Parts: sequence; structure tokens; C-alpha cells
Amino acid sequence: MKRQKEERLMGNDVSRRDFLKVGGFAGFAAGAAGLGIGSILGAPAEAHAEAITVTDFVYTCPLCGQKTTDYDALVKHFEETHPQAAVPTCAALSINGADVKVQVEPHWTLRETLLKAVGLTGNAKQMCDRGACGSCTVLVDGVPALSCTTLAVECEGKRIETSEGIAADAKWRPLVEAYAKHDAAQCGYCTPGQFTVAKYIIEKYGAPTDEQIRAELAGNICRCGTYSRHVQAIQEAAAAIEGGN
Ligand code: FES
Ligand code: FES
Repeated sequence: MKRQKEERLMGNDVSRRDFLKVGGFAGFAAGAAGLGIGSILGAPAEAHAEAITVTDFVYTCPLCGQKTTDYDALVKHFEETHPQAAVPTCAALSINGADVKVQVEPHWTLRETLLKAVGLTGNAKQMCDRGACGSCTVLVDGVPALSCTTLAVECEGKRIETSEGIAADAKWRPLVEAYAKHDAAQCGYCTPGQFTVAKYIIEKYGAPTDEQIRAELAGNICRCGTYSRHVQAIQEAAAAIEGGN
């Protein structure tokens, strides 16, 4: 039964691959097919997710394709080889506790950056991409933010948390388990955003009421109609996490 549920939550081959890559809940993931979430069951609590997937960054000259593993080396390359051109933008970000320097286009949203540069697929999959559905919600300095309408360069110096990072933290394992137990994830499109806001709710209220949960999740649209299940899961997790404190 547990296995069946796991298979159903995994959804499709894309999410299965992401599940395997990240080891579990962080496979709240969708790739090209844009469907499915990774299993939130089955993996040991201490190894169920990776907070960040890409750790070795490569910087690429957009003019000649030269690659470096150091941003300063890319800047030097530009000064020597393309002195008239603008140096590519680099954003210094703190993502799920890791300080990373990623090459970005100045117009890249945080969602695009998480997906293209850091390899995180949970909150970063493309959904409405226009601030209407809430599925891309991440926490920026602890507060929900729509990553599809936030520029990556705006987030320098701020703390970014995604569903992968939350799931990788053993403290939040009860929230992962409550989501699985209450079947709060169906197709999985909305789930990473809902889950991320769930963490915010528990931290903010400790023991939230149903009304507080519904109000905080109001911006997160679920076409599968799982709304009441999020309330149940968050209530249960809040009790187990002791108010998130
Ligand atoms: S993808 Fe950002 S709000 Fe819908
Ligand atoms: S679980 Fe399908 S959109 Fe929410």
C-alpha cells in the first residue's frame, strides 16, 4: 500500500528521475512534462533530500563559449579578450543554506535561476510564470515570495529557501510525513509552493488555526482541490514540530 502510494505520488518518469536524484521529497519536481512530484515517502529521514543539487558552477563566456570554474576568471577573460563588451552578470545567493555564485542574465527571475543555474526543480518548474498561481513560492528572508516575479539579482544578500531545503532539514520531516499521510499532493503542480508556505505558517503561528492556514494559503491555487488536506497536514505537522520553534 505504501509502495502504491509512493508510485502514485511520483507521478511520472520525470519526477521519478528527480526523486532518485534528490532522494525523496525534493523531487517535488517537474521537468519537461511539467507534471508530478517526487515521493515523500520511503527514504530514510536523514537522507531524503538534497538542499541544493548543483554545487560546481561553470561560468561561460556568452561571446566565445570559453568556460571557467571561477567567476573572477571569467571577468579576467572578458578584460583580456572582449574589452569592449559588458561582463556577464553574477549573483551571489544564499540558497537553502549554501552560498553560491551563479551566472545569470540580469532579467532572469529567481525561478529561472533556481532551475537553470542551480538545478532545483521543485518550486522552480514553470507554471503560470506570471504571479497568479503560487506554485513557485519560495521563502526569501523567511517570507513567501513568488519566484517567477522576483529577479534573481534582487535576492543578493537574502536567504532563499525552497521545498528541497525544507525537506532536507530533519526538523521539518514531520511536515513531509503529514503531507504524505493526508494525501496533500495529487498531481503535484501546486505542492512545492503550498509546502513552502506551510513551513512559513508553522513558524509564524506555532499552532495555527484552520482560518489562519486558509488565509495564508489563499494565494496558492490547486486545480486538484486539495485545500482541506493542506489544513489537516499543517495542523498535524505543527503539533509534531512544536510550533516550528
Ligand atoms: S508560477 Fe509563479 S505564481 Fe504561478
Ligand atoms: S495537487 Fe494538483 S494542482 Fe494541487
